[in-house]
Amino acid sequence: MILVTGGAGFIGGNFVLDWLREPNNEGIINLDKLTYAGNLATLASLKDDPRHIFVHGEIGDKELVQRLLSEHKPRAIVNFAAESHVDRSIHGPAEFVQTNIVGTFNLLECAREYWNNLDVDKKAQFRFHHVSTDEVYGSLSAQDPAFTESHPYEPNSPYSASKAASDHLVRAWFHTYGFPVVTTNCSNNYGPYHFPEKLIPLVILNALNSKPLPIYGDGQQVRDWLYVGDHCSAIREVLANGRLGETYNIGGWNEKANLDVVKTICNILNELKPRIDGKSYAEQITFVKDRPGHDRRYAIDASKVERELGWRPAETFDTGIRKTVQWYLDNPEWIEGVVSGSYRDWLSKQYQ
Ligand code: NAD
Ligand code: DAU
Repeated sequence: MILVTGGAGFIGGNFVLDWLREPNNEGIINLDKLTYAGNLATLASLKDDPRHIFVHGEIGDKELVQRLLSEHKPRAIVNFAAESHVDRSIHGPAEFVQTNIVGTFNLLECAREYWNNLDVDKKAQFRFHHVSTDEVYGSLSAQDPAFTESHPYEPNSPYSASKAASDHLVRAWFHTYGFPVVTTNCSNNYGPYHFPEKLIPLVILNALNSKPLPIYGDGQQVRDWLYVGDHCSAIREVLANGRLGETYNIGGWNEKANLDVVKTICNILNELKPRIDGKSYAEQITFVKDRPGHDRRYAIDASKVERELGWRPAETFDTGIRKTVQWYLDNPEWIEGVVSGSYRDWLSKQYQ
């Protein structure tokens, strides 16, 4: 078995589905708190798959994590569980400190105790894979080179500060205790099952519902976009062959300004599902108040993972965004399930 945390969320859910699609892979224990971002509908196709064991609970629960480790004896842990939305971290940072820092600490401690008691072979095989973000490196100007793994940590939001803290804990557990960790820091993911509080799914859904497409500030902030299936393949590669104690940056080689991303989505929708009035969805673009402390640019230099492990993304932005828009058009039931009362409350709080 492997233990996956946060496997009912966007990236964790895609990871679980992709992993179990391969018949020779081990089973998964999926530990998820089912916050607003966790969604069992993402895992509906696994209902009758005995290789998937879903456990509703949290990484900060010491007794639960200890019990899962001793019962299932996983050979690896992949830690996706986190509070992940920058805007929510600005409104309420406490949960971010609790899950991302204290929760990761608890998981590390339980895992270290478990690992210490494994026999020699299993101990050598064990891995703790921590999934993190490029936001820990802070913000770049237009001329700066992309983030490498040795870029200083300069987190700017409560979210990125909490992720940076968790990365430091993971690093220290390797250096101090020899605990076998690998960390990946990746750029903005997009693809199926993405909760529509984040830019790309929010814009697709708002466009289809005749709502404004909110662009923070001048829309010239730059992000690197990584298709979620590519991120999952990178994690599998690093988990299998990454060097212990190392970090690997994972990116899509797709830097785009937010406004260009939104215009691209509008163009694809104009083609796949034209507006009844024949006008472009771009007419719905609305500039709104900027995010406080908004990082201007992120860019990932993913050459280390390519050089050492031979991993490169399979999707370009053009292929990945088209698949993504098509997925949202094809999956109205999944969307129905996530746009609950709490989602609507969030939209009115954030966008008035
Ligand atoms: P998400 O918000 O979609 O999902 C997070 C999942 O974690 C949810 O299912 C939630 O229920 C679960 N969870 C939250 N608190 C928990 C707790 N205390 N115990 C157990 N489960 C808990 O997030 P995501 O976008 O899938 O991100 C997954 C990981 O990847 C996070 O660590 C995030 O920081 C990192 N990351 C995300 C992106 C991105 O673009 N989405 C980019 C870089 C890194
Ligand atoms: O870089 C990796 C990070 O990417 C992850 O660590 C985070 O978990 C993930 O949420 C994401 O963070 P961002 O803040 O970059 O993603 P978001 O989709 O919230 O915003 C993308 C950009 O679009 C950002 O510059 C803010 C802008 N934006 C976002 C929203 C929701 C808008 O202009 N309007 C919006 O309504």
